[in-house]
Parts: sequence; structure tokens; C-alpha cells
Amino acid sequence: MEASVGEAGKTKFQIDLRRYLREDGEDEGLIHLICEIAEASKYIVNSIRTGDLGVAGTSNLYGEQQLALDVLSDRILRKRLAKSGVVSNIVSEETNDIIFVAPHRTGNYSVAYDPLDGSSLVDVNLAVGTIVSIYKGSDLMLPGKKQVAALYILYGPRTTLVYTTGKGVHEFGMNQLMEYTLLRRNIRMESKASIYAPGGLRSLYTPGTDKFVRQLEADGVKLRYSGGLVPDINQILMKGKGIFFYPHLRNASEGKLRLLFELNPMAFLIEQAGGAASNGRQRILDMVPQKFDDRSPFFCGCHEDVERAEAFIREEE
Ligand code: F6P
Ligand code: MN
Repeated sequence: MEASVGEAGKTKFQIDLRRYLREDGEDEGLIHLICEIAEASKYIVNSIRTGDLGVAGTSNLYGEQQLALDVLSDRILRKRLAKSGVVSNIVSEETNDIIFVAPHRTGNYSVAYDPLDGSSLVDVNLAVGTIVSIYKGSDLMLPGKKQVAALYILYGPRTTLVYTTGKGVHEFGMNQLMEYTLLRRNIRMESKASIYAPGGLRSLYTPGTDKFVRQLEADGVKLRYSGGLVPDINQILMKGKGIFFYPHLRNASEGKLRLLFELNPMAFLIEQAGGAASNGRQRILDMVPQKFDDRSPFFCGCHEDVERAEAFIREEE
């Protein structure tokens, strides 16, 4: 624990991530795993701040061009996870194969992650993030409701880490010593949105989504979209009054975002804050993945708005 001077000039104690996890009664293996990911993020944030933005010359599963930073972030995390001693299997959005670290060791965790989401925003200096989904045991092809923890790290003007282990959502900020200390505990969302973040091309929206957007506009809900999933979800979670969606499109029935790496962890966090996450017809966390790179439409945020989106889709499609 480290003392700092608070706004009122009084000594205020900062609670660090490890201590907070311990006091919340988490399993030592899970604490170690989350803290290892937090450690890895220090190297990622340094690479983002100072790194070479050149193209690495490889492409990922989806044919997207990988920036050197994607590859680097992937390696930093993979190495850290593999050496953690508490991980069975790993799958990353940047690769198409599962890494068997210690598949048969009991008591371990398996991890699906997106090492640097929104990497196309790095060269225009917008915020990006790392997204992580954690399961107990060695199986990664489970519905999202089986996650034991989920977190993201947002590399914005400040670096923050937001996690849940199923006991609420808590935000930590990286301080000047590159340690994560508690900013907010038990973040809660309200029932109705005042901002919306819509992904995808509107001209390709299907009738249900289109009607939903018109309704939001008619209600005076403000557009707030950065194009990065982590900052966009973070905005909605921290303001507590918003909805993010990346819907099914007329030329892409599953939308764009990936269930394992992006949607399940975000859905777990949003639900834990009192919000909802749906594919338009079904709860995201109930979806059973068929393959690592499954995609799904995504409507996520204040629960009344998610329910309204579902109602429009049911009526119109
Ligand atoms: O990983 C995909 C991603 O970059 C997300 O961060 C973001 O939400 C989405 O794509 C943005 O896509 P679009 O530019 O089509 O709205
Ligand atoms: Mn991504």
C-alpha cells in the first residue's frame, strides 16, 4: 500500500490491484493471472507510446493488416501468460491456433484475448485497448456465462484497467510508478441511455436496427463513437448511460466483432454493472461458440435500450 496526498491535502491511501483482489477473496491463481496481465500491459503501453508503427508484413486470421504493434502486443502477452504457471490454454485474436501451455494441469485457467484491439487507430493517435476473457480449466469453447473473469485495459490519455470476477466491475488507473491503483469500485449503469455508439455502415443496417437508431435520435440520445471497441465500451460503462452496438448488416449477417475475444468479455463486464448484452435475439453470454473466430451482432449497454433494440428486431425482421 502506498500513501499519496489527496485533493483536500489529507493523506489518502491508494489500493493496488493485487491487494484489492486479495481483499475480495479471489483465488491466488486468478490473482496471479490478472496481475501478470497487468504487468504485460506496462510493456504494451510503452510500445504504444514509443513504438514503431510500421507494418509487420503479416496478416491475421481475418486478412487484416497487422501493425508491428499488434504482433508485439500479442507476443508480450503470450509470453507472460505461458510463463505464469497458472495457464492451461491460450487463444489470441491475432493467431488462428490454440496454444497448449499445460492442458492437463488442474486448477489452471484458460485465456482468450485480443492483444491490441482497434490497432488501426494507433497511427491516428486515438485510444486502443487489450481485451481478456478467462475461463477455469482448459476449455475455451464455452458460452461466455462460464467466464470466471474478464477485463480490458484502455490505452488512452490515461491507462486504466477494468475487471470483473463476477462481483461487480472495478476500475484501476496506472499511476506514475506504472502500478494500478483503485479509481472506482462497483461501477453501475442506469437503465436508459443518453449516448449511443453505433458501429458499421448505417446504409447497410437492417430494418430493425434502422428503426432503433431513428428512435434513439428522436429521443435526443447523442452520438458518441470513436471506432475503438475498448474506448467506446469504456465510455458507456463509465458514464453509465449509453448503448454500443455493432449490428448484423445486410452484407454481413454476423456483424464484425468476435464472440470469444471481444463480445464475451465486454458482455460479462456490462452485465456485472447492471446493463445487458444481446445479439438482437439472444443474450450474448448464452451463445455457444462453434469456432474461435465466431462473430456476432452486438447490442450492449443500458438494459432498457438493449431490450428496445431486441423488440425492433423481433418486429421488423
Ligand atoms: O476489432 C474491431 C474494431 O476495430 C473495434 O475496435 C471497433 O469497435 C470496430 O472494429 C469498428 O469497426 P467499424 O470501423 O466498421 O465501425
Ligand atoms: Mn479486435
